[in-house]
Amino acid sequence: MQQTVLVVGGGGREHALVRALARAEGNPNIVCAPGNAGIAQHAQIRPLDVSAPAAVTALARSISADFAVLGPEAPLVTGAADALRAAGIPALGPSLAAARLEASKTFAKEIMVAAGVPTARAATVTDVAAGLKVIDTFGLPVAIKADGLAAGKGVVVAHTRAEAAHALADALERRVFGDAGEIVLIEEGLTGPEVSLLAICAGASVARFPAARDYKPIGDGNTGPNTGGMGSVSPIPDISDAEADRLIDAVHRPVVAEMARRGIPFSGVLYAGLMMTPDGPRVLEFNVRFGDPETQALLPRLAEDAVELLGGAARGSLPDRPVRVHEDPCVAVVLAAAGYPGTPRHGDVITGLDDAMATGAEVYHAGTRTNDTGQIVTAGGRVLAVAQRGITIAEARARAYAAADLIAWEGMQMRRDIALNL
Ligand code: AMP
Ligand code: GLY
Repeated sequence: MQQTVLVVGGGGREHALVRALARAEGNPNIVCAPGNAGIAQHAQIRPLDVSAPAAVTALARSISADFAVLGPEAPLVTGAADALRAAGIPALGPSLAAARLEASKTFAKEIMVAAGVPTARAATVTDVAAGLKVIDTFGLPVAIKADGLAAGKGVVVAHTRAEAAHALADALERRVFGDAGEIVLIEEGLTGPEVSLLAICAGASVARFPAARDYKPIGDGNTGPNTGGMGSVSPIPDISDAEADRLIDAVHRPVVAEMARRGIPFSGVLYAGLMMTPDGPRVLEFNVRFGDPETQALLPRLAEDAVELLGGAARGSLPDRPVRVHEDPCVAVVLAAAGYPGTPRHGDVITGLDDAMATGAEVYHAGTRTNDTGQIVTAGGRVLAVAQRGITIAEARARAYAAADLIAWEGMQMRRDIALNL
């Protein structure tokens, strides 16, 4: 039977979700809200305030959605999953209460400690003097983290006491993150390569994806300010399937069990941001949704029916086994607008999209819009992600860059070293 799926969100992650759902059996009817110019080529798009749970539910009802997939954190931390479920519409995404794993770093730490999940030693403070005392016990470097959501800007790794004092005062006194920085988590500084491990969770079942990595700084060699992510790759050669399974047993399963024990069961995508330190893996953070841009390198590898997998999970029925994927690695290269990660320039005309797609690459839209004359123009910081598979990571990256190089606009920025030397 044809299913109707509502995908909430309008970035590259949601475009990748739409593309994966469109490949499913039974020609699903896909509606994405608010979507973007690229998503409009593969799904119906509708306007939506994703932070208004009543609006999300009204839209899902009006299209008779069989289930909804909630992409970004905004609908999750405002209770869209609860509202949809209350209306009898299955949703892939955690309740507002369970979304605190992402929305509060102190809550996430409390759960990790209770569940015995390996994570950095940490302390919570609400004033600068107490923070400096903690730092004197921990030693440097330390990570200073605003407790709440701060658009990816709430973490400073401080290498000197002065830097740490500045970061503490920014959050606690100057309130640069508003209420999100009212409480600060201080963590001992760790080192090692970072890995993103995502798993769909429902009931006690955990279905993991292969390991992935995103590249956060704007510049080659991880230089310059952080962004929402300038590219991604999956798998990570250092993380074998057996190692990924061990990480799921050490991290995701105990968290799911602890949340259930507390009466706040977690269902949806649990994304662990891990650092592989010389003393073993440590969790740095949780997200409660598909990662962006990790999803753009994971979903092209999906080798099972996305409607069955995601719809099943939304209804609480999920096989307890890894998600089936193609062996081929995938590399996604993000193309960003002039000015990003500062204020991005909007309205630059994008050329070469058809040529890039003709190579077989996936061209996921993030910040695009169709202008009055029908041209596709930049309309955000991260504009596109070009993803391609290959027999090896080297081949996937060569093919992804070959396609990305066909695309151009005034001031386009792209890192040249995504998935290099893996
Ligand atoms: P988070 O949002 O908690 O993942 O932190 C953002 C980034 O800060 C991570 O991707 C790491 O690069 C870095 N980071 C976070 N926690 C630590 C830590 N305890 N030690 C060193 N770096 C960290
Ligand atoms: N890739 C980081 C995130 O989705 O938050």
